[in-house]
Amino acid sequence: MENSTLGILVMAAGKGTRMKSDLPKVLLPILDKPMLGYLLKTVLNCEPDGVAVLVGHRGEQVCDYLKAFPSVEPLWQREQLGTGHAVRVSRPWWERFDHVLVLNGDLPLLSLKTLRSFLNEHFDAKAACSLLSFIARRPDGYGRVVRRPDGGVGIVEHKDASPQQRLVKEVNAGCYVFDVKRLSPVIDRLKNDNAQREYYLPDVVALMSEAGLRVCASVAEEEETLGVNTQAELAAMTTRVRDVLVGHWMAEGVRVLDPSAVWIGPDVKLAPDVSLMPGVQIWGNSEVGEGSVVGPYCVLRNARLGRRVHLVANVIVEDSALCDDSKAGPFAYIRERSLLSEDAFAGKFVELKKTTVGKGSKVPHLSYMGDAVLGENVNIGAGSVTCNYDGKNKFPTTIGDRCFVGSDTMMVAPVTLGDDSMTAAGSTITADVPAGALGVGRARQKNLEGWALKKKQMEK
Ligand code: UD1
Ligand code: CA
Repeated sequence: MENSTLGILVMAAGKGTRMKSDLPKVLLPILDKPMLGYLLKTVLNCEPDGVAVLVGHRGEQVCDYLKAFPSVEPLWQREQLGTGHAVRVSRPWWERFDHVLVLNGDLPLLSLKTLRSFLNEHFDAKAACSLLSFIARRPDGYGRVVRRPDGGVGIVEHKDASPQQRLVKEVNAGCYVFDVKRLSPVIDRLKNDNAQREYYLPDVVALMSEAGLRVCASVAEEEETLGVNTQAELAAMTTRVRDVLVGHWMAEGVRVLDPSAVWIGPDVKLAPDVSLMPGVQIWGNSEVGEGSVVGPYCVLRNARLGRRVHLVANVIVEDSALCDDSKAGPFAYIRERSLLSEDAFAGKFVELKKTTVGKGSKVPHLSYMGDAVLGENVNIGAGSVTCNYDGKNKFPTTIGDRCFVGSDTMMVAPVTLGDDSMTAAGSTITADVPAGALGVGRARQKNLEGWALKKKQMEK
């Protein structure tokens, strides 16, 4: 195919009626990424001369998503009258290429390898049209590939098929490549005299075949070509993609106690010797460094974990970073650009929001630190809170190096505790504490001798 050009057209204008969802089908997520994103990644890796996506139903939403792919052009199909109609309305776009590869938008597992060998077969055979088929365990709903004794090929949609034709297990995968010179004259001849009153792209195959043009059907693996039409199929596909991803990371040296109980998004990066316990979910652009242990039921989203980080269990980390040898949990919530420095610790029932915890510092139990900066080797007593919000605005708290904050200290922000200062347990700190000082902000205790005993006697 030297010197000939290839355009790739992804059809994503349909509603996906069987999904019963308000989202367009191609934007439904597999793990945490829209279905369409998987196919676009593969298609772009094919290095074609142009890529376009047909949008229609909830097209603005699809266009918004496509902004993440600057080289991909959206094309509108305002009325969705079928896949043949979709290709017809986009003719001005594909007519500038020598060949056009047309794909259903719901083929997330189609691999680059399969796509490349499919294209090569098409070019080698000098076919007018090639299509990808597969042998379906359950062919219901798919177009059946009908191969005639004379070598001709046609596709009969499930709803139009005779009982005899429905027995055929070879089905159309929704992936076609056309010689543009041959496609142009045929695309106008499509009719919609069928069960769905739609213009079927697969009818092009029969029209070309009947005209004596060369049509090839290559059989691909069902694993790669299964479409996604229902919520149950979406769930099955999601599990399948998960299995592939978890398998990939195990091959890279990640330990997984129960591969069926771990969820990892497609853009996550894991280092060797990371251990993942059951119930772990890792999403977004999270990264986990060598030797880190992510304990049971931890959820990470856009989290960066350094090396040898230990999340004990039930820790949630969002848009935050944990440096080498830091530790958190069980039951910690670390969010909104918080940072645990080297050797730092956020323990049981601790929430950190927009807070930096310095090297070696500890927030062991039952504390809320928001909009705060903690220096190095600080110790925060149980039940301490930065009172950062007055109902209107948020204010910062600064806690110097080596501070010892007594249990149940309320730090009313904005407030600063100088280096090496302390606060007395139960204090409400409303003014800055100078370096090296003890801040006491509580009523003095007095003991009433014998009072309790007397009360008991009176109650008898
Ligand atoms: C289609 C094929 C069928 C094949 C199956 C594989 C037709 C008529 N049938 O059936 O032979 O076995 O895929 O999964 O093509 N779309 C548009 N505009 C439209 C209609 C659809 O862009 O007017 C898009 C959809 O968004 C989707 C793709 O085309 O991505 C296929 O549409 P879908 O309704 O899923 O096709 P099937 O009925 O499954
Ligand atoms: Ca359909």
